[in-house]
Amino acid sequence: MNELTFPILRLLTDGKFHSGETIAQQLKVSRATVWNALQDAEKLGIEIFSVRGRGYKLPQSVTLLDEQAILSAMGPQSSLLKLEIHDHLDSTNTYLMKKLSTGQAHANCVATNLQTNGRGRRGRTWQAGLGASLTFSLLWRFQCGAAGLSGLSLAVGIALIRALHHFGVTQAQLKWPNDVLIGHEKLAGILIELQGDMEGPSVAVIGVGINLNLPASIKQQIDQPATDLASVTQTPINPNLLLGELLKHLTDVLSTFEQRGFASVRDEWTSYHAYHQQAVRMLHPDGRETTGIVVNVAEDGNLLVSTAAGEQRFSSGEISLRAS
Ligand code: ATP
Ligand code: BTN
Repeated sequence: MNELTFPILRLLTDGKFHSGETIAQQLKVSRATVWNALQDAEKLGIEIFSVRGRGYKLPQSVTLLDEQAILSAMGPQSSLLKLEIHDHLDSTNTYLMKKLSTGQAHANCVATNLQTNGRGRRGRTWQAGLGASLTFSLLWRFQCGAAGLSGLSLAVGIALIRALHHFGVTQAQLKWPNDVLIGHEKLAGILIELQGDMEGPSVAVIGVGINLNLPASIKQQIDQPATDLASVTQTPINPNLLLGELLKHLTDVLSTFEQRGFASVRDEWTSYHAYHQQAVRMLHPDGRETTGIVVNVAEDGNLLVSTAAGEQRFSSGEISLRAS
């Protein structure tokens, strides 16, 4: 990215018009340089209004991530992790996965203001935009092997729900294994990537994307119903406070999970499940569909469903759950 793009975007975060001349003076560059840097921003999908005689503006004001604000929102638990804030990354998960080989420390959190190549599960894409989304990943090392981590992605969902409830978003629910929904629309997603052998130790990169305020241009690129926090709260939630609260609950849930496993939080998980004891369709990767009624989740995080063929057990890689 052009090295001036983010310094200019910082000036525009107030959502007001700034003339090319003022920006050029503030950054001690030419107006053509400003124009070039903003062309680069547009190539990254950032919408910028440009009006002759008035200058440039973002569609609305944007609160950028601020390390100190996040750490103070976390309170004393902030001493448990190391936080890294970036202006722009392709993907916070990809960034941390690449760092694994260099022995990246336990409890590293990487967040970015703009993620341009976000990943979902099984090669799918996660759409995000500047000021539109909160995107971050947390690296967590476990003594146990990958086999002991089967309920981890569900446990992480609990931390998201607890944090959302703190901000009054009490209607947020989970969809097995770990999507966060409001109504039947997706608000947030979790991508967990593991490294290590079956016996351990192992390391997880836990990626979270939450929609703050999706513009129509992003929403139309998403091929399933999606929602954002701006649609359900009266006043915008500050992303720094949200990330601090999320990290607080994540460190809590992860240490409970390490000590006592998913079984110890299973009932809480079930209480958040949008499809608990509901009729559902299960989409198999080969296009087949099975219908049934959700019975519960097992202590290892597998989904238990009552089907025409009796009670069946599904692991998260096997099916995608949909309302019946
Ligand atoms: P599952 O297989 O558990 O049902 P899923 O179909 O939601 O999950 P995931 O891999 O978990 O798929 O998530 C990626 C999908 O999420 C994308 O294919 C797209 O449909 C959707 N998506 C992408 N970006 C966003 C976003 N910002 N908000 C909501 N949904 C999104
Ligand atoms: C899903 O629902 O499939 C999971 C989406 C996970 C998106 C987050 S955004 C931060 C982190 N970096 C990524 O590339 N993906 C995750």
